[in-house]
Amino acid sequence: MTDDSKIGEAWSLPGVLGYFDTERSSTAQVYASEWIFLKDRLKEGMSVLDVGCAQGGFAAMLAENLKDFSYTGLDVSSDMITRARVRFPRHSFHHVVGGDWGALGAARFDQVLVLGILHLHFGWRDTIAQAWARTKSCLILDLREIDGPTVEDQSRSYFKMDFGASDDRHAATTLPYVLVNAAEALATIRALCPDAARISHYGYLHPVSSSAVTPVGQAMANVWCIER
Ligand SMILES: C[S@@+](CC[C@H](N)C(=O)[O-])C[C@H]1O[C@@H](n2cnc3c(N)ncnc32)[C@H](O)[C@@H]1O
Repeated sequence: MTDDSKIGEAWSLPGVLGYFDTERSSTAQVYASEWIFLKDRLKEGMSVLDVGCAQGGFAAMLAENLKDFSYTGLDVSSDMITRARVRFPRHSFHHVVGGDWGALGAARFDQVLVLGILHLHFGWRDTIAQAWARTKSCLILDLREIDGPTVEDQSRSYFKMDFGASDDRHAATTLPYVLVNAAEALATIRALCPDAARISHYGYLHPVSSSAVTPVGQAMANVWCIER
């Protein structure tokens, strides 16, 4: 499955939807590499845009830490967005198709999050550029990085959507698993966010997901914090 329009369907498989009913919805479920940046940037009254928000679980995480904030979630899966609206009716959610974020109007956000999606679609560079254009203060994103050449070939590196369910339909549905050369990751972020005042990252070498079929056994799961 390579067509971007199919990505939403892949993320709407029942087991995948069910996974996000409970996961990534609390401070305890934020990864250490994300929290190291996020914890110091949580400010009362802040606005947050979460790109690839799934069911908007990060709204619950923010509510554990802040009394007053606005949260807007974007997702390619209309089913994820439907569930997000039920779970968090006071927040804003938009289903996005073809990378069209027009539903946001001219809005920009103090904090933009792009977590758990960039390594799973070919349009990741465009997504970073769009996210930076919406960033007032800080953009936090993650990539999977290697020391060898970048791999953007779904026949060599792919992710099986078998988490949450192990039947044939889930396992047969795949997304690209993009591995970016680490030096290229820095160069790309510098090029896409040319007016950044500060760029930081934190990551660790980690076995690739058991759902991934890739030419490498380990990749850096790197979280980047890009500030204006
Ligand atoms: C692995 S989940 C990550 C959810 C959440 N951001 C997190 O870190 O736990 C990926 C989510 O992003 C959505 N998604 C994937 N690619 C996307 C894209 N290009 N634009 C918007 N949403 C996307 C999927 O539908 C899914 O709900």
